[in-house]
Amino acid sequence: MTGEIIASRPNKTVFREGDQAVKLFGADYSAADVLNEALGQARVQETGLPVPRLEEVCKRDGQWAIVSEFIEGPTLAQAMQEQPDRLEHWLDLFVTLQQEVHERRSPRLTQMHDKFHRKISFSGLDATARYELHNRLDAMPRHNKICHGDFIPSNVLLRGEKTPTLIDWAHVTQGNASADAAKTYLLLLLRAETELAEQYLKLYCKKSDTARQYIGKWLPVVAAAQLQTCREEDRAFFRGQVEQAIEARG
Ligand SMILES: Nc1ncnc2c1ncn2[C@@H]1O[C@H](COP(=O)(O)OP(=O)(O)OP(=O)(O)O)[C@@H](O)[C@H]1O
Ligand SMILES: [Mg+2]
Repeated sequence: MTGEIIASRPNKTVFREGDQAVKLFGADYSAADVLNEALGQARVQETGLPVPRLEEVCKRDGQWAIVSEFIEGPTLAQAMQEQPDRLEHWLDLFVTLQQEVHERRSPRLTQMHDKFHRKISFSGLDATARYELHNRLDAMPRHNKICHGDFIPSNVLLRGEKTPTLIDWAHVTQGNASADAAKTYLLLLLRAETELAEQYLKLYCKKSDTARQYIGKWLPVVAAAQLQTCREEDRAFFRGQVEQAIEARG
């Protein structure tokens, strides 16, 4: 591979090659997962949301890669770190963007409810906990809003000062926006950004006129859905979220 490394993860690397970003997946990635991520990005692109233009899905040195338009500018995570005095502004931009996503529809995207049921089945939790979680999920309304599924500040790129672009569409579904907000909240908590997580949730509830308790009802379901594929070191956190909610109910 040539080009400058922009981000390096244990099983992924993102390079810049001229005006393109190349996301190179580790050898253990299945073709289905890579194609699914690219398909999600392509479907969302068609709705007019601000995403990098998909250029190519290919193999580089035997490894799958997704090639997209390179977006110049820092991530929102960097902006939040570099300009903490403007946190209110950045949070507002973040929540506004998430709500813009929720306003869009793409009828052929994976159904969130189906995905969550499947993930609960494979969560490794015992049958009693799974039964409870499947029931809880069934009791939640099925919507068809586009949900990014990994909506965190490092997946928002700031082109110039104002225009945000949203990347990393591996987890996109259509479903309930409050579940998507619950996921963002958990991901911020997981990164020990407790204060940011609380501020985020408060603002999201205010701007979307959603009850905090309602998002709370999604937390154990969303946490359980992470257990199958999360990193080993994150499992205790998600398990804790599930157990806390189930025990509280008795
Ligand atoms: N099209 C792009 N233009 C500019 N930079 C990009 C682009 N795509 C990715 N990046 C940079 O690479 C980083 C990682 O990319 P991405 O979020 O797609 O993968 P990832 O974070 O490894 O996936 P995951 O969130 O599953 O860990 C981003 O935070 C961003 O800094
Ligand atoms: Mg990312």
